[in-house]
Amino acid sequence: MNKTIIITGGAGFIGSHVVRLFVTRYPEYRIVNVDKLTYAGNLENLSDIDRMPNYVFERTDITDSAGIQAVFDRHRPDGVIHLAAESHVDRSISHPMDFIMTNIVGTVTLLNAARALWDGNFSGKRFYHVSTDEVYGSLGAEGFFTETTAYDPRSPYSASKAASDHLARAYHHTYGLPVVLSNCSNNYGPNHFPEKLIPLAINNIRNNRPVPIYGSGENVRDWLHVHDHARAIDLIFHKGRNGDTYNIGGNNEWTNIDLIRLLCRIMDRKLNRKAGASEQLITFVKDRAGHDLRYAIDSSKLQRELGWTPSMKLEQGLEKTVDWYLANEKWINAVVSGDYERYYEKQYGQIKN
Ligand code: NAD
Ligand code: DAU
Repeated sequence: MNKTIIITGGAGFIGSHVVRLFVTRYPEYRIVNVDKLTYAGNLENLSDIDRMPNYVFERTDITDSAGIQAVFDRHRPDGVIHLAAESHVDRSISHPMDFIMTNIVGTVTLLNAARALWDGNFSGKRFYHVSTDEVYGSLGAEGFFTETTAYDPRSPYSASKAASDHLARAYHHTYGLPVVLSNCSNNYGPNHFPEKLIPLAINNIRNNRPVPIYGSGENVRDWLHVHDHARAIDLIFHKGRNGDTYNIGGNNEWTNIDLIRLLCRIMDRKLNRKAGASEQLITFVKDRAGHDLRYAIDSSKLQRELGWTPSMKLEQGLEKTVDWYLANEKWINAVVSGDYERYYEKQYGQIKN
């Protein structure tokens, strides 16, 4: 094996797709998945590839500096692709400290471990920090986030991601660490944890439960299929310029209400329900505190410089995603057992079932 790469957060939604892509596409790389297995981490996401000879799992908390140092000493990685994070905005509103610890302290812990291991010999080395478009704040009806848009994070989640982005860049400028970053829009696809809008709505519709829409449903998100994000990460890891940032987005802007109406039509068809039946489940609820109005990404730099383009429109990707959830009832039923119901009750207890 000619390279060892640590992927953090590899048991989560996006991380598991990145791990699968790297393990299968690069048999000459050793992929070490470092994950604490929080409520969002699920080794079932990797059950199809976890016996591959180039895959290793390390259950470690990225805020545990001794544990992380031991992992780096054991595996001596040439590269790090850092995805581990607390990722849900609503949980950051109720429990901000978890986000400060994992997203900020955890990122610095990894930067320190890479810096100590590489010790100024940066040839062939790379630290890739995966981030979000939410660091740029909220747009009005017009315009797009570019790589030079000023940071203006507005939730504890996005503020913690912004801090981690600044720290990753600071390690590049101060110590010369070979750091590259990307900021991506909303992902969707298989293995998405059902606290996020699309998988939550799919799960509720299949169970005939109300589908909660915050506020008036006019907030806009730019949706990207997770396979397109994983392809972008592969390209940026191999071809991106050190010190640079790349925006990744799907050119798929939808208001939440239009998106959920589309999903309802797809679900009616797949579940052989009467047209319009699932839409009856839509329930407008109290808005998210500080709810960002619109995100939209200009990904022309990534398209121009590295030749990436999003391959899937939302209509097509959503159809495939619904198929995946309906074919993987065992996965979703396991994920929503236990703590999930307690979370759901706290977050949505106001809605009558
Ligand atoms: P996720 O919540 O599905 O997965 C996060 C993973 O990190 C889980 O496996 C969890 O166990 C692990 N983890 C959490 N805390 C940890 C810790 N202290 N130590 C080790 N592991 C820990 O998240 P996701 O949606 O797959 O997001 C992955 C990354 O991509 C995050 O950095 C997120 O900010 C970024 N991102 C996500 C989206 C999106 O739409 N989901 C869009 C842009 C960027
Ligand atoms: O933009 C990238 C970000 O996208 C990532 O960095 C985050 O990790 C990821 O969680 C996602 O953040 P959002 O807050 O945009 O995603 P979420 O699925 O939570 O919400 C999408 C939209 O739907 C948002 O406007 C809030 C709304 N919403 C969400 C939930 C969970 C509802 O109306 N009802 C809900 O029950």
